Amino acid sequence: LYRSQGFERDNSMGINLANDDQLRALAEQVNASTANWRAAPLVPGAKASGPDIAVTNPADRRQTVGQWQAADADTVEKALQNAVAAQPAWDRTPAASRAAILEHAAELLEKRMPQYMALCTKEAGKTLADGVAEVREAVDFLRYYAAQARKIFAAEALPGPTGESNTLQLQGRGVFVCISPWNFPLAIFTGQIAAALVAGNAVIAKPAEQTNLIGYAAVKLLHEAGVPEAVLQFLPGDGATVGAALTKDPRVAGVAFTGSTDTARAINRALAARDAAIGVLIAETGGQNALIADSSALPEQLVKDALSSAFTSAGQRCSAARVLYVQEDIADKVIGMLAGAMAELSVGDPGLLSTDVGPVIDSDALKLLEDHAAKMEKIAKPIATAKTDESVAHGTFFAPRAWELQSLSQLTRENFGPALHVLRWKADQLDQVIDAINATGYGLTLGIHSRIDETIERIAARANVGNVYVNRNQIGAVVGVQPFGGQNLSGTGPKAGGPHYLPRFATEKTVTVNT
Ligand code: NAD
Ligand code: ALA
Repeated sequence: LYRSQGFERDNSMGINLANDDQLRALAEQVNASTANWRAAPLVPGAKASGPDIAVTNPADRRQTVGQWQAADADTVEKALQNAVAAQPAWDRTPAASRAAILEHAAELLEKRMPQYMALCTKEAGKTLADGVAEVREAVDFLRYYAAQARKIFAAEALPGPTGESNTLQLQGRGVFVCISPWNFPLAIFTGQIAAALVAGNAVIAKPAEQTNLIGYAAVKLLHEAGVPEAVLQFLPGDGATVGAALTKDPRVAGVAFTGSTDTARAINRALAARDAAIGVLIAETGGQNALIADSSALPEQLVKDALSSAFTSAGQRCSAARVLYVQEDIADKVIGMLAGAMAELSVGDPGLLSTDVGPVIDSDALKLLEDHAAKMEKIAKPIATAKTDESVAHGTFFAPRAWELQSLSQLTRENFGPALHVLRWKADQLDQVIDAINATGYGLTLGIHSRIDETIERIAARANVGNVYVNRNQIGAVVGVQPFGGQNLSGTGPKAGGPHYLPRFATEKTVTVNT
């Protein structure tokens, strides 16, 4: 898709999910993978210490799929020293050479899709369709930032008077810390690292505690592709210890963070409190995303897209629809169809081709969702709960649920899972609806279902959000095509997979020579 923008390569081909034979063969490869994975810090010169921690399968907690070891304070210190020492030579490596390494990594990853999908299924509970999307997005990020770097890191000659030459050159900032969430453990993890590396920074990558095995495998692949081991180091550990130790360190020039809004605030405070150069923070955070449907919407398409937006990836997407605003005239019909469609959802083993909704990531996430459901039972009208059977008994599953609310203010936080809240609105209330959505303070995705151009334009113009999707679902932004990211409580920008992302990882130097 982004070949049209002058780049040599197109987006990852992935596989055709409509081709049953291809899909079945892929599923067999993914499910046959029974390796006992292990992740540990990848820090040259550091001594391993600390116990191994078991990783269990979210779909069946009785199954141990691997072990990981956290970095201790000495390892964090060694990683910082290594990164500071290695960064200047990496920055002097031509951007085209750095880009070629990312492209090599993309080739390797594309070839090994089933192995990486297996990790995504067994460590993060991703369905097969989500696993394909996860690998493709990681491949796309590698290729897209490589292509961008080739374009923008070439020194640009600027006009000047006779006898003077002026050039503008981008350089790496220094040491970048990349902190990622568990819900896109390969795609976002790889995307942050790819951008920081190709811009000439040394990178210390801290994965989410829940998905160390996937992060480890991604870093190993980048090393194999040619990134020097001291230029990209892997530092698993708790956010509150390893993450916090990194972000408060004055040797860190910038942090690329994706995760909750609260953690972004904590990192911002840590960066500001240092007695050091002002650190850069690129933060992509949460959302309270709405889908607004007016009475001209096609109910069948609306329900299909609402279902996909709310429940794909078990609702564990920052982009997921949490709120469906339906115009009163079609509300009863849409709510009835939504309940019917939810009854057809298949919740269970993410390794099965028939599964629509897999587990949530862990027991903490499940507890938050169950607490939310208990609260909703008291203040909202139940619409539907998807059915489950005994196959989910040993996993952390939350059956998709929908309730009807009276007011958006009844939702006080982002509910990160398959929970949808429906609200009705009357024809003269459209501006109030948009105001209520803006008043949440979040601004990530917004869906619009309408056949009236004026309504679409009015909503899109007034809503303070980063990504607007009209008459389709509102998840699954494609790298280079739908640059992704929000505003206000949802992030600092610039958008991942867009043309303004990479420059944020770099400094600019103007050189003026009297010739
Ligand atoms: P989280 O904020 O709990 O954790 C994210 C990362 O931050 C983890 O690696 C964690 O270890 C680390 N961390 C925690 N405390 C830290 C600290 N004090 N200092 C440094 N690092 C620390 O988020 P999560 O639960 O892993 O992810 C879910 C959240 O991510 C949701 O809010 C979701 O909306 C958001 N998200 C946003 C986007 C986006 O592009 N906007 C994409 C995916 C997820
Ligand atoms: N980029 C991811 C999506 O669009 C979060 O769903």
